[in-house]
Amino acid sequence: MNAGAELDGRVCLVTGGARGIGSAIAEALAIAGARVAIVDLAHSGEEVADRIARSGGEAIFVCADVSSVEGAELAVEETLRAFGRLDSLVNNAGILRLADSFEDTPDDQVDDMLRVNFLSVFRTSRAALPALESSGRGSIVNIASMVGHRIGMPSHAVYGASKAAVVGLSMTMAIELAPRSVRVNCVAPGVVATDLYVEQFLKSNPREALDAGSERTLAAIPIGSYASPQQIADVVGFLVGGRSDYVTGQTILVDGGYTGI
Ligand SMILES: NC(=O)c1ccc[n+]([C@@H]2O[C@H](COP(=O)([O-])OP(=O)(O)OC[C@H]3O[C@@H](n4cnc5c(N)ncnc54)[C@H](O)[C@@H]3O)[C@@H](O)[C@H]2O)c1
Repeated sequence: MNAGAELDGRVCLVTGGARGIGSAIAEALAIAGARVAIVDLAHSGEEVADRIARSGGEAIFVCADVSSVEGAELAVEETLRAFGRLDSLVNNAGILRLADSFEDTPDDQVDDMLRVNFLSVFRTSRAALPALESSGRGSIVNIASMVGHRIGMPSHAVYGASKAAVVGLSMTMAIELAPRSVRVNCVAPGVVATDLYVEQFLKSNPREALDAGSERTLAAIPIGSYASPQQIADVVGFLVGGRSDYVTGQTILVDGGYTGI
């Protein structure tokens, strides 16, 4: 894409790259010169890879469930088969299931959120580690959330817990992997304008409630707008590349000041 771009020569794997924040990350990394593996359950990830190719970048799509051991391993194997190396892993795949309250959260929702939001990070990172270590400049970026990291939010008990687990895992991984030249950081978004929240909210609430809730939420964000997926992708791009090579074990909030103290 760009001659002499920042991520030239790097290979990045982005989980959940078919839409929302993940597709913005995949496209931003490709624009910065990386070759990108987009991994998702949804076949629309193929369209993201095609878009990148049409703009002169290099990308593949791998259909896999990264919350399973087999899916995580397949994602890494296919990336190595296509590109021969792996420098960065962005663990972005995640789900949100809202509940009336913590005690009303159905057990299957608890299992699903812990499996997709936490176990996928553990399993994909473990599968990718040998290749990341061989690269000599490995970087893992995990997408957490302001919920569970800095604040609680009604209806989000287990979601927040799953994201807190990601931050906790990342801190120890960062210490253990620093001597092996692999950095580990998290990005904790605030509210991002994607389908994830709207789809869940509308399952149990009328449209007007969403609009009223949106107004209240917007009023609580000092910057005055939701984040765009691109604004999250920009911070991920910084953590992936060499400009952050002395940064590890950190969680960067990208929340427009929502949780500011
Ligand atoms: N949207 C927000 O406001 C917000 C805020 C904070 C954190 N986040 C986090 O950002 C990440 C991306 O969120 P988004 O809003 O873009 O969501 P989204 O629902 O738009 O996209 C998530 C993608 O992940 C994929 N996915 C889900 N489970 C998967 C699995 N097991 N294996 C492979 N792919 C899987 C989905 O198919 C989808 O393409 C998530 O981890 C989410 O928790 C989002």
